[in-house]
Amino acid sequence: MRRAIVAVTLAIASHPAWAGGDAQRGKLAYEARCGACHSVDTDRVGPRHAGIVGRRAGSVPGFAYSDALRNSGLVWNPALLDRWLTNPEALVPGQRMGYQVADPQVRADIIAYLRTLPPQRH
Ligand code: HEC
Repeated sequence: MRRAIVAVTLAIASHPAWAGGDAQRGKLAYEARCGACHSVDTDRVGPRHAGIVGRRAGSVPGFAYSDALRNSGLVWNPALLDRWLTNPEALVPGQRMGYQVADPQVRADIIAYLRTLPPQRH
């Protein structure tokens, strides 16, 4: 019995913040918070997001990234996206995205939505 409680506690403690996201809520949050600078299929102030999960950071051809992000060597996964949205400058010093999301649930929702975006087809 005690062992079961310990296992449950560990499972909760190791449950990553981004795992409880809701993609539908995330789509709305994305449009409200990210839409001024980003879209899924077109570069704006920020690069397009199609296929962002699994994509190398700073790799959209023709987008004028900071050297810091282009040379970061990161490949976006949910855990890294959570750190990026929490504080991009802490993850990649010298980057150029002047925006962060303080609420962990909103980050989780947005990441759940980003995970649904297939790579762009040309
Ligand atoms: C004020 C404009 C602005 C807002 C708002 C903004 N971004 Fe960005 N974003 C940028 C810029 C500019 C870059 C490129 C940064 C660089 O080159 O260092 C970027 C880069 C990124 C990247 C890296 C993309 C890649 O190709 O490596 C991700 C992921 C990202 N943004 C996600 C988001 C999400 C999700 C939101 C909404 C919560 C958001 N951004 C809101 C401007 C913005």
